[in-house]
Amino acid sequence: MKKIRVELGLRSYDVCVGAGLLGSADMLGKLASEIGASQVVVISDSNVAPLYGQATVDALAAAGLDAWATKPFPAGEPSKTLATASTLLDELLTHSPAIDRGTLVVPLGGGVAGDLGGFVAAIALRGLRVLQSPTSLLACVDSSVGGKTGVDHQTGKNLIGAFHQPSCVVIDVETLRTLPLAELRNGLGECVKHAVIRDESLLEFIEASAEKLLATEGRGDDKKLSFDAEIMAELIARNVTIKAAVVSADEREAGVRGHLNFGHTIGHAVETFIGYDNIRHGEAVSLGMVAANHIAKARGLLGPSQAQRITNILSKLELPTTTSPLDPGSIWQIMQHDKKALAGKVRMVLPTEIGKVDIYDDITPAEVAQAVESIGK
Ligand SMILES: NC(=O)c1ccc[n+]([C@@H]2O[C@H](COP(=O)([O-])OP(=O)(O)OC[C@H]3O[C@@H](n4cnc5c(N)ncnc54)[C@H](O)[C@@H]3O)[C@@H](O)[C@H]2O)c1
Ligand SMILES: [Zn+2]
Repeated sequence: MKKIRVELGLRSYDVCVGAGLLGSADMLGKLASEIGASQVVVISDSNVAPLYGQATVDALAAAGLDAWATKPFPAGEPSKTLATASTLLDELLTHSPAIDRGTLVVPLGGGVAGDLGGFVAAIALRGLRVLQSPTSLLACVDSSVGGKTGVDHQTGKNLIGAFHQPSCVVIDVETLRTLPLAELRNGLGECVKHAVIRDESLLEFIEASAEKLLATEGRGDDKKLSFDAEIMAELIARNVTIKAAVVSADEREAGVRGHLNFGHTIGHAVETFIGYDNIRHGEAVSLGMVAANHIAKARGLLGPSQAQRITNILSKLELPTTTSPLDPGSIWQIMQHDKKALAGKVRMVLPTEIGKVDIYDDITPAEVAQAVESIGK
């Protein structure tokens, strides 16, 4: 098992990455016991609960904890609402025996379960402790670490929420085998992002392991990912190390945590423009990274061969690097409404080499228009 420490003073915690951790009383059960909880509530969605819910509850119970699971919420982003949070709170607050401040919440699933379950934990009884148990690659490398929790509002994604750090994160790479291939690619987009902002050697690792990471076996409904568990654990651990360092340096996103938005400014606008139902987040981020690189290249910050190298690796991972033509004016408009935009200006993260980025506050509509045209087919 690999352990990565997220250093946040009194709120520091470990991210544990390994194979077979979830169904094990000696691993998950022990880690939950060490937090000192008596009662443990597992929160999961309708896809993940039938696969891993019972094994998780059993492992916790075998370690002597009073473990139970809430009714699974329907899988998918549309469930990430105050209404679902409210239903979960009803279940928690009417449960017998009653929950108390010592109760531990275990969100089990992708980023939606993590954000929603983490948010419920943040507000129930003014804050319950959390053990995040991510099962999508995106949740493993990104959303489960850093303490951002929340739900969506009809006016935008993630507009209601709280910073609430977990007490521990447990990543069982074996759970990723049932992930749809498209969801794996989604997470790989964030891995490329981490490599570009901080670690060229991670990009080399992804380049060398792409085929092994995307390997599958079986057909139809029996199709499963057949990655090498060691390689997947290394990929996740290296990405978590980067996310952990960024979060430790700037927990509340006053500075360097903003680097994690590389590819996300134009990416979010593309997501909004095309519609969340029509493009996956990782695909939009892939396009956003290519577009940001175009601006960096035009400004003379990033060499053309470096930009091409990033595009090539995204293609190798079967992530999109071009799309049907987008309307640059609309993309600019959407970017200005981003909650991270400054009044009248657009801020973007641009690479200056592979492994290094800076934040630029002076991005012009013309630059965005050229970048958006560059990703149009
Ligand atoms: N808190 C943060 O810092 C942060 C960072 C990035 C993204 N996010 C949030 O994360 C969410 C996206 O996360 P996601 O892509 O994991 O979405 P998700 O939770 O919807 O999971 C994607 C799909 O995969 C399924 N799934 C998950 N694990 C599985 C498994 N092991 N086997 C089979 N199916 C499985 C889910 O049921 C779902 O259908 C968004 O809401 C986004 O805002 C949060
Ligand atoms: Zn993202």
